[in-house]
Amino acid sequence: MSKVYVFDHPLIQHKLTYIRDKHTGTKEFRELVEEVATLMAFEITRDLPLQEVDIETPVSKAKAKVIAGKKLGIIPILRAGIGMVDGILKLIPAAKVGHIGLYRDPETLKPVEYYVKLPTDVEERDFIVVDPMLATGGSAVEAIHALKKRGAKNIKFMCLIAAPEGVEAVQQAHPDVDIYIAALDEKLNDHGYIVPGLGDAGDRLFGTK
Ligand code: URA
Repeated sequence: MSKVYVFDHPLIQHKLTYIRDKHTGTKEFRELVEEVATLMAFEITRDLPLQEVDIETPVSKAKAKVIAGKKLGIIPILRAGIGMVDGILKLIPAAKVGHIGLYRDPETLKPVEYYVKLPTDVEERDFIVVDPMLATGGSAVEAIHALKKRGAKNIKFMCLIAAPEGVEAVQQAHPDVDIYIAALDEKLNDHGYIVPGLGDAGDRLFGTK
């Protein structure tokens, strides 16, 4: 079974409070989502392998560490996932960014791919799939499936707020994918919104409501 990590760092929790607040406007909401994504990226990259290099400081020769050339890919699920990308790229600027778009089939109610554009070397990269909200888990499960189908082997899923239902769905479908969240909320309501949540992440990010 995959692991679930809740990043309860005070800075993340503080910023998340303002993200949740319905009085926070689009500009501030967008900035805060980006900042939290940066802070989460700091935590999620904790296990990146290092290698030793020889350098010279102004004082002496020294052995020092650099990241060992790990190839990373960030995959936002359209559209709200886009709001987290720049924040992650601040810390991992060399990462490639792919996109996965899904729509809900009106008959089966299941998510269906409508857009998948990935880095060409999928098999060699480690991926972080991002979406601010993990609600039913349907989109996350399908997006991870779309990545695996194309050869991805090492995948993490990162979101701001998760519902227990979504965490369980991802764990059941993808027991090899660890989940990184800033908060685990109570439940989903009858309209599929996370409670207390933050409302519709896409609308709040892009000012479409
Ligand atoms: N997607 C959102 O944007 N918000 C929710 O609460 C659930 C899914």
